[in-house]
Amino acid sequence: MNLPAAQTAKYLKDYRAPEYLVPQVRLDFDIRSEHTLVSADLSVEPQAGAGALVLQGSAELVSLALNGETLAPSAYTLAGETLTIAAVPAEPFTLSVRTKLYPHENKTLMGLYESGGNLYTQCEPEGFRKITFHPDRPDVMGKYTTRIAADAARFPVMLSNGNLTGSGKLDNGRHWAEWEDPFAKPSYLFALVAGDLVRTSDSFTTMSGRKVALEFFTRREDADKVGFAIQSLKHAMKWDETRFGLEYDLDVFMVVAVGDFNMGAMENKGLNIFNTSCVLADRCTATDADFERVESVVAHEYFHNWTGNRVTCRDWFQLSLKEGLTVFRDQEFSADRAGREVRRIENVGYLRQFQFPEDAGPMAHPVRPASYVEMNNFYTLTVYEKGAEVVRMYHTFLGEEGFQKGMKLYFQRHDGQAVTCDDFRAAMADANGFDFEQFARWYSQAGTPVLDVSGCLKDNGDFVLCVKQHTPATPDMADKQPVALPLKIALFAAEGADAGTQLAFRLPESGETVSEAVLLLNQAEQELVLAGVNRAAVPSLLRGFSAPVILNYPYSDAELALLLSHDSDSFARWEAGQTLLRRAVAANEAALAAGEPLPEHRALLDAVGYVLRADIDPAFQAALMHVPAEAELMAGRDNLDPLLVHHAREALLDLIAATFKAEFDALNQKAREQEEQASDCYNYAPEPAGWRALRNVCRAFILRADPEHIAQVAQNYDAMAQNMTHEWGILSAINSNPSPLRDELLERFAAKFRSDDLVMGKYFSLIASSRRADTPAQIQAALQHPAFDLQNPNKARALLNTFTRNIPHFHAADGSGYRFIAGKIEEIDRFNPQVASRLVQAFNICRSLEPQRRALVLDILQQLAKIPDLSKDSGEIVEKILAANAA
Ligand code: TRP
Ligand code: ZN
Repeated sequence: MNLPAAQTAKYLKDYRAPEYLVPQVRLDFDIRSEHTLVSADLSVEPQAGAGALVLQGSAELVSLALNGETLAPSAYTLAGETLTIAAVPAEPFTLSVRTKLYPHENKTLMGLYESGGNLYTQCEPEGFRKITFHPDRPDVMGKYTTRIAADAARFPVMLSNGNLTGSGKLDNGRHWAEWEDPFAKPSYLFALVAGDLVRTSDSFTTMSGRKVALEFFTRREDADKVGFAIQSLKHAMKWDETRFGLEYDLDVFMVVAVGDFNMGAMENKGLNIFNTSCVLADRCTATDADFERVESVVAHEYFHNWTGNRVTCRDWFQLSLKEGLTVFRDQEFSADRAGREVRRIENVGYLRQFQFPEDAGPMAHPVRPASYVEMNNFYTLTVYEKGAEVVRMYHTFLGEEGFQKGMKLYFQRHDGQAVTCDDFRAAMADANGFDFEQFARWYSQAGTPVLDVSGCLKDNGDFVLCVKQHTPATPDMADKQPVALPLKIALFAAEGADAGTQLAFRLPESGETVSEAVLLLNQAEQELVLAGVNRAAVPSLLRGFSAPVILNYPYSDAELALLLSHDSDSFARWEAGQTLLRRAVAANEAALAAGEPLPEHRALLDAVGYVLRADIDPAFQAALMHVPAEAELMAGRDNLDPLLVHHAREALLDLIAATFKAEFDALNQKAREQEEQASDCYNYAPEPAGWRALRNVCRAFILRADPEHIAQVAQNYDAMAQNMTHEWGILSAINSNPSPLRDELLERFAAKFRSDDLVMGKYFSLIASSRRADTPAQIQAALQHPAFDLQNPNKARALLNTFTRNIPHFHAADGSGYRFIAGKIEEIDRFNPQVASRLVQAFNICRSLEPQRRALVLDILQQLAKIPDLSKDSGEIVEKILAANAA
């Protein structure tokens, strides 16, 4: 039985500076067929007042020597992962550690592991200790040299961080290579790759004229799929120079693609390792969305070289220091590349669908968590996505120029250091003379703040907004203080011949007349006076989603329609439509619960009609047609029947489909012609991608309105199948269709791509997301499919995590969906706790469920809690959900 969470938690408040530094690490990897021997020479520097030397490690310890003298077992103690050497010199010394690793047995995908016969490492956050013994904390930074020796035929490629400083032949068909990284780094950025890989090279000349070699390593059969990622890297390198003034610092930048990987990618210094899903792309196997993801993940990892590597985190509580900032940077990069406004809408949609529920559930934690049991559980949407919103708020307050001043000061002060979120905040404040004291609460309070706003025109012509803010209690904290946030606003004429035009107003403090303003909110209740308006106005609030909050304003449907058609801010336009949609789903839900006929939804249908006729950017039009996902609709509620939410949403989609069938047909036709004009052989480019996105929205509605249309789709399928975006769009649109043609098309798809792991992942996620009654049976069959592999995270997630978002099946009233997932959690937890623990979080919703389902889930969680040797990853989540439900 695992220890209760409270016994093993680590707390931010307990942080102490390291007692020993390790400025130099010499590693020697002797790779053998059944194991790998690692010799590590650590140069250790005791700090004033240091006690016993404590190192972290979970590898098999072969021997320890201090300044060349072997240590007797009595000289140290090894308890769990902690090695303590009581008596060490007060002067700098060398500790030599030998460990023995078994990478082919390592299915956790942390430390050194084997995938497809090759060896890879993953050290963030605490994987280095699976390789050798070391403080393994990010504030202990050192320079690394790495020597690798292995069989030359099996491991022709041997890579590590930095620059290659030597290589040569050894006896018995073996060879060696030595790498040296000139930059001090934390242990989590160490990386090693050895295997039979193909290299694709390019180069980039930096702004100061240095030529950097770009080298991408893949399996031979994937080498033709890295071209797009290489171009993305070059764009990212250029962008970081022009927008942030940041230049790459080594002579080589390497990227390695691996099929077995727990997350998207990893920013190891000079040697990034990528999940194949985030680096490989061609038009036949990747959708436009996949291309966009590759571009943004390649950029994200590259940007870490400055925000993460050159300036790193003092401790893991500060993770958002690098992740929030780097997500902000990759979002800005993507926005500058193409489609800024739609990108913003997509980012907000993602935040609401995934981060808002997290922030309203048992795992709720601040952007800088106060405690954790297993750090791997805190690579969360809150740390990444809400963290990026926090960085964006600095930018909104300071503007681009002020923000860049802050970044400059941040690097001046902290290059080469391991620092905190407070250091970042201080740089932003000091460079601009801006007060970010109260803003610090974003780092310490969990939960999505709620703004309740009302507005009225006063007799003196002022438009006054009354704003109340509160942050709901979360399991970690009951009472919250008001946060400081930027509220971006504008006003639009409510009536008259010029209804919908943007109005000017005066800001009381400055007397300045403006048409848009960023106002500071920082009190539980406050009034914002927009002077000299003199007529009825509709406020446009939270423009650009200027803060990660929920904003309620008592808009009439007519006011929302006005904003939808006239607002000059794309996000605000979209939001007006989303509000209408959310209200319509809620009204359906109420009617279904009461057994009453569904509302007619006149206002909503007018709005949809307007959107379908509007002459606007196709990607924006597609985004406007997006109905909020169930997860977003359910966040923060209680006594939920998920099926009721699902049926309410489906009914609205059915109504829209039936009402506008002809319009969707026509729009699909138009989009098809436009795509053909805009595209060059179906290749990815932002413009045809926008038209294809629109086509796929139309297809879904057309097939919803007319399921029989599947026959025609099947006939035309091959003509469309030259581009994965079309294949994916078509298969998604027919995926819940009861016709045997659906199965036939899916099977043909699986046969066509049977040896492509990434596309087979798409096949498995189609199987798992179908609403058809036979989905559980099809999932059972998929588990036996020759291309399925539970040990491969991409495939496990495609089938299982996708299933947990399939509301009618996962939340089946008899609990069968819950039990199925619980069984898989137990199985996966034995070899890959990280993947298992993500799956456990499907049960985060437990406390929000109606009593019967809640009892089913609680029972399942109690069973999971009793599993002997349940990982601390899964154990921490199970405990948190149970605790939140006991409260
Ligand atoms: N630092 C990585 C990123 O955001 C993500 C990461 C953290 C990771 N831990 C990991 C990747 C474990 C793979 C495995 O870019
Ligand atoms: Zn990152």
